[in-house]
Formats: sequence, structure tokens, C-alpha cells
Amino acid sequence: MKIEDREPLDDEAIDAITRLPKAELHLHFEGGAPPGFIRDLAKKKKVDLSKIFNADGSYAYRDFVHFLSVYEAATSVLQTPEDFARLCTAVLEQSAENGVVYSETFLSPDFCGGGDVVAWREYLHAIREAAEAAERAHGITLRGIVTCIRHFGPDQARTAARCAAETADDWLCGFGMAGDENMGKQKDFSYSFDMAREAGLKLTSHAGEWRGPQEVREAVEDLGVARIGHGVRAIGDLATVDMLAEQEITLEVCPGSNVFLGVFPSLDKHPIDQLRERGVKVTVSTDDPPFFHTTMRKEYAALAKTFRWDAQTFTELNRTAMSAAFCDAETRDAVLKKIDNP
Ligand code: HPA
Ligand code: ZN
Repeated sequence: MKIEDREPLDDEAIDAITRLPKAELHLHFEGGAPPGFIRDLAKKKKVDLSKIFNADGSYAYRDFVHFLSVYEAATSVLQTPEDFARLCTAVLEQSAENGVVYSETFLSPDFCGGGDVVAWREYLHAIREAAEAAERAHGITLRGIVTCIRHFGPDQARTAARCAAETADDWLCGFGMAGDENMGKQKDFSYSFDMAREAGLKLTSHAGEWRGPQEVREAVEDLGVARIGHGVRAIGDLATVDMLAEQEITLEVCPGSNVFLGVFPSLDKHPIDQLRERGVKVTVSTDDPPFFHTTMRKEYAALAKTFRWDAQTFTELNRTAMSAAFCDAETRDAVLKKIDNP
């Protein structure tokens, strides 16, 4: 249906939509760190991070590649399992405030113990303990996806995949790839994705945020992913869009991130509605919320306003997210109950 033919929503309806229970599939763990959290840690550890902050305290970067280096600088002060446990508490408090009831987060062994499996287990243990406490306190469920970093190269990705394979279970349930999409090719990482698949992990990869439809095809064909991080530039080729719809590949769409980084000039030019109308399974996430000045509530409000999506559409979106979630069936059913009974 054309947007003009849909009923516009008033402020009250939009406010109710922002309060719906939400499932988020695409959240970089360190990317959820509030700038104040990183600044305090830097001060405590006597690391000079003044260059990565604006005068108002927000993160400062010029473009996507610079963002990645600022992200890594911020992450450098997270040095122990306890730091990551505290980060987990801070991130999940924010998510819960935004009505998120289920979240999957990208964790990188590269940042948690430098790829050493023994150290990685300690980080993972600390994060899971903090997540369990947050679940008891706020009713939010977290699951982890090990993520290799594309611009660190295929060899380091194998180390991440080995960590993932060693710790694969109901909690650590996925493997993916983040980082600079303009470096190398998806298939350079097929060994790591094969290892993860054999360990029983579900797969996702960032594709089609910066490169075009071909990159999205390669993620599906060369890595065999069930989900794509972003994938939005598939819109440049309708055959690719139809392939996504036919194969029921779910897109982890992060509209606020895309607009903030200039992938699309404004939300009304963003293809999420077109993709959905053409039958692609789309979901909504924040990516790195404080970096992109967004939250799940802000994402929902902006989508409701721009595309006139009603509460039922958002509930469908959250059901789509849960059917593509990497958790086990029991967890999925428990979360679906919350989504269906707001
Ligand atoms: N995209 C790709 N890689 C990343 C991101 C992102 O938003 N955040 C951290 N690593
Ligand atoms: Zn991302």
C-alpha cells in the first residue's frame, strides 16, 4: 500500500508504539556504551581519549571508517571481564528502558581477551552473569553472537570463529561479521563461517550497508547466512530483493544508523518500507545507539511517523524478529508471549 493511502498516526498513537515490547537483533556490544561510561573508564585507567569526544561529551568522528577507529579507541579502555560485565549492565538498562525484551548482541573475542580461548571464556562468563542479573531485574533476555572483524582479515577471523566454536551453546548462539565492508570479500571468510556452522551456530554478516546488491548476494551464496546486517542497498537490484524474499533471509535494518552515516539522506528516502512491501523480512535495530544518537523508542517513533506504520505492523515486525532470532525455541516462545501481550 502506498504511504499516502495509510492513516497518519497522532502523537498518542506514536507514543503507544514507542512503548511496545521490542526485539532487537543487531546491537554491537561496545557500540552500546554511553560516552560517559567510556570517559570515566578512560580517566580511571589514565588513558587519554580526549580526541574521540566532542565538547558536549558525545563521540566525535567524521565518517564510517573514522567511526570504526573511534569505536576501537573507546573499546581499548574495556580491559577486563569486570569492565565488560559493567558495560553489559549499562547497555541492558538502556535497552530495557526502551522496552526491549529480547536482544542479540555482537561480541568480539578480538576485544575480549585478544582471541585467546581461555580469556574469552572468562569474559563470556562475566557478561552472562551480568545479563542474567539484568534479566532478573528488568525482564530483558540477552543472547550473544560472536563477531569477526572484516578489516582485521581472515586469519584473525578464524581465531574468533575458534572461540565461537569452543563456546557455542544456547546462549552463544550465532556467528557473524562486522567491520569495514569495503575490505576484501565475503568469501575470504568462508572457512570461519563453515567452522561456526559446524559448531551449530546460526549465521549473519554485515553486507549491503556500503557496497551494493552483489555484496548481499555474496553473503547469502558464499557464506550461507540466514540473516544480513543491514542489506538495505539490495534495493538497487530488484532481483536481489526478490531473492531475499524467496529465501526468507531476514534483514537486520538499522534506519537511524543509515541516516546518521549518510547511507541514505533522510528516513523518507530509506528503503525499509519498500523492502517490506516487496515481501522481504525486515526487522529494526539501533546498531550502536549512542554513536548514532538513537534508541529503539526513537527508531519506532520515526518509522511510525514517516511510513505511517501502525502498532500491528510493529508487532508483526517483532514477530519476524523472533522467528529469525538465533535463540532456542523455549526462549523464543517466552519472548513471543511478551510481544503478543503488550
Ligand atoms: N558496522 C560495522 N561494523 C561495526 C559497526 C557498525 O555499525 N559497529 C561496530 N563495528
Ligand atoms: Zn552493525
